[in-house]
Amino acid sequence: MKRWLAPEHINRLAADPAHCTRTEMTVVIDSSRPFVPEVYTQLWHTPVYASLHREHRLRYNQLSGLRINEYIMMLESDLVEHFHEPLRRHPKVAADPGLVQALETMIAEERRHFDGFAALNRACRPDIYPPGHERHFSQLPFWTKTMFRIAGAFAQKLGFALWYQMAMEESALSLAREMGSHPMTETLGPLDPGFVSVHHEHMKDEARHLHVDGLLIDACLSSASPGRRALNARLFAAMLSGVTRPTRSGSGVKVIRQLVRDMPELKAREPEMIKAVLALKDHRAFQNSLFNRRIMPVTFGVFDETPEFAELGRRMIGYDRR
Ligand SMILES: [Fe+2]
Ligand SMILES: [Fe+2]
Repeated sequence: MKRWLAPEHINRLAADPAHCTRTEMTVVIDSSRPFVPEVYTQLWHTPVYASLHREHRLRYNQLSGLRINEYIMMLESDLVEHFHEPLRRHPKVAADPGLVQALETMIAEERRHFDGFAALNRACRPDIYPPGHERHFSQLPFWTKTMFRIAGAFAQKLGFALWYQMAMEESALSLAREMGSHPMTETLGPLDPGFVSVHHEHMKDEARHLHVDGLLIDACLSSASPGRRALNARLFAAMLSGVTRPTRSGSGVKVIRQLVRDMPELKAREPEMIKAVLALKDHRAFQNSLFNRRIMPVTFGVFDETPEFAELGRRMIGYDRR
């Protein structure tokens, strides 16, 4: 398809330092500043948020920022580990040396991103992330892990994780863009420039990755038989439930528990906050904030062209099929 850069073009850009993420930066964090736009945090979507004091909202925002970093890292490590390596042997990928090179570069870059975000989280909260401990909030849910494993074991037949990967990479890009263009939060003042700088750097590699994802989707999914595409579409929809429904053992609730550990005066309000987060599974505006055309226009364009996604809006509330 014409809209993706050719593999040779992607590889040329990847060789140009101006288009590559710097990961060896020394980041200085100002802990009096929020880390992410408030709309990217779960409690923001609930009535509880406005009733919290500023210092509680600020700490909640910062912990949510660490959780978001962990989510980006999860994609970068688990998906790469289970899925990208075997994808190299997919016949349509293996037949295109330029695409194989682009995929290999992407694998190497994601490993560096993982280390960069781990270092950022450690700089923010060395007590939560001692050396060797990279995940505090986001143990991959069993269901998602199983789906990643299936994706990897059958990578040559089942490319459904590529749609997910494109959606997540594009939403990380949009977040970084938004942090750069709107550094002022609604109630907590300006974002921390150190935290923002890491996301801004991440954007450089991810802008290329989106094209690699597009080429891989064309090679592995768009050209598959209708039966296989239908199976992939069903697996993709099944995978979404692990992402869109906050659970009691999930990372959103773990953020609340950490908030209460940090600020024990909130202990009496812990059940109320947890209940509010769990209720988001049926909250339309929150569900819209996870997947929508504003933050993932390219991905939604790919969904629009996929006949098997005619009913996707039932599982992905924010998907407005065009
Ligand atoms: Fe990345
Ligand atoms: Fe990426």
